[in-house]
Amino acid sequence: MPSERFKNSIAKGFSDAASTYDHWSMLQQQVARRLATMLPEEPPHGLILDVGCGTGALTELLHAQYPAGRILGIDIAPGMVDACKTRWAGRSELNFEVADAERYLPSEPCGLVASSFSVQWLSQIAVGHMAAWLAPHGQMAIAVPVKGSLPELREAYRAIVGSPLWGTSLPTGADYLKWLSQAGLTCRIVQTETFRDHFDDARQVLHSFKGIGATFRYQEGYTPLTPTATRELLCYYDQHFAGADGRVPVTYEVLLFVAEKAS
Ligand SMILES: C[S@@+](CC[C@H](N)C(=O)[O-])C[C@H]1O[C@@H](n2cnc3c(N)ncnc32)[C@H](O)[C@@H]1O
Repeated sequence: MPSERFKNSIAKGFSDAASTYDHWSMLQQQVARRLATMLPEEPPHGLILDVGCGTGALTELLHAQYPAGRILGIDIAPGMVDACKTRWAGRSELNFEVADAERYLPSEPCGLVASSFSVQWLSQIAVGHMAAWLAPHGQMAIAVPVKGSLPELREAYRAIVGSPLWGTSLPTGADYLKWLSQAGLTCRIVQTETFRDHFDDARQVLHSFKGIGATFRYQEGYTPLTPTATRELLCYYDQHFAGADGRVPVTYEVLLFVAEKAS
């Protein structure tokens, strides 16, 4: 399991971004909407958990799909949980807790464990851990970026720095499917889709990562690029990836699945 320091750095990065997340997370919101189209029609029997709820993009869609369901959003970042509590103040069917998903134990079995764009921050034990929360026939609905994401940034980083992009190695879709099967879940829906957002230039891309809290700056062992290397990286990104309109893409490969626990 990742170290306490690593967890604290994630919590701090995302808490700092709670007030800017909604502005910069168009792609994440699009992914959450796509995942919502795959949710089971039948209301789940038991608690509905949104893991890594952030500011509540998926929580809102879960509530729309299951208006009578009891929904609990958990997130390691107190700033994100505060944002949700403020947004849904006085709504007893929607609850939020600060919690590390890798250590969490829900107080009752879950009918649905859902998560969008958060599981990539967890270690590989997380899938099995979350599967254990499910009631018999409970379902897990997850969208998670996988290997192959951020090809533009990876190429620019490798070209300028000469090594792979720090701290962003992602599992493959096949890895997740193996972990699901090991956890005793059967997939009902599995899809990998490409999602792409566009920004004015590479500087705005980096700004957007900071705006959503996806930053390495608090992480142990992370050395920021020098100003010169940063300038060269931005220049490479703009020169190699700008389209006819001058805007640059950020691309994610996203695995979306709905899996069910046997009785
Ligand atoms: C990119 S945001 C996604 C938020 C939201 N699900 C959405 O679709 O917009 C990732 C979220 O996962 C949370 N997170 C990261 N590691 C976590 C952990 N170990 N336990 C709970 N939440 C975690 C972060 O704090 C952050 O709010």
